[in-house]
Amino acid sequence: MMDLKCSLPIAIAIAIAAMAAAFPLTTKIASAASVEENAKICATCHGESGIPQEKTTPIIWGQNEGYLYLQLRDFKSGARKNDIMAAIVASLEKADFKALAAHFAGLKWPNLALPSPSKDDTKKALTVIGSIGCTSCHLDQFQGDGTTARLAGQQPEYLLNTMTAFRDGSRANNPGMSDLMKAVQPPDLKPIADYLASLQVVGGNNQ
Ligand code: HEC
Ligand code: HEC
Repeated sequence: MMDLKCSLPIAIAIAIAAMAAAFPLTTKIASAASVEENAKICATCHGESGIPQEKTTPIIWGQNEGYLYLQLRDFKSGARKNDIMAAIVASLEKADFKALAAHFAGLKWPNLALPSPSKDDTKKALTVIGSIGCTSCHLDQFQGDGTTARLAGQQPEYLLNTMTAFRDGSRANNPGMSDLMKAVQPPDLKPIADYLASLQVVGGNNQ
């Protein structure tokens, strides 16, 4: 009989082994495979219906095409560092990135239907957003366009992580965003993430 005390570390070990076992999957990701075949592998983390399994994994369904393409390119070159995504894109080429970007941009953004943060946090978020002028690039509904990311309705935990990463330089693929994030005080980041996550886009292709 297994000692009960062992069961948690064992459960973790099994989870890690399962993740490691899942990684050979990435060897199936190949330039020769169709975009549909490659996209099935993306779904294991980014979601079968566009809602990612983990809260720190971003929604990519309905994200802007140019932005998606640049991220895949940057994960491959290492300009944007992430071990998981680097392994995923290692065997893919520019043509695959273009096809995957077009594929995911054409899908409907899933609605997480998150509530607005408290009045206090909303006010904090709007003050920073107004003073920095985020909407001059991310547009009035935070839908973004082209190579500028959509932020509206994105997972709040992911937004908080990535804004923090821009700020501390661990996400270094867009120095302009890093400079802007350095102008934001750390306690304001979570209110901004929660505010952006609660927004929905009205009209357009992928609301
Ligand atoms: C094993 C899990 C996993 C798989 C499989 C996976 N991803 Fe990811 N992906 C992630 C995580 C986690 C992040 C967030 C990385 C970060 O925080 O910088 C991410 C980030 C991204 C981003 C950046 C989005 C943004 O808003 O900046 C894109 C684009 C992306 N993935 C596309 C894909 C595509 C296309 C595939 C399939 C070819 C894929 N991913 C497969 C886990 C995965
Ligand atoms: C000068 C134009 C500009 C302004 C102003 C701007 N952004 Fe950005 N932002 C961008 C671009 C371009 C990207 C895509 C960067 C990349 O390719 O990695 C981006 C990316 C992001 C991302 C990453 C999205 C993702 O899916 O990973 C977040 C979060 C973000 N911006 C938040 C903000 C916030 C909050 C503000 C205001 C405080 C702001 N931005 C102001 C241009 C801008």
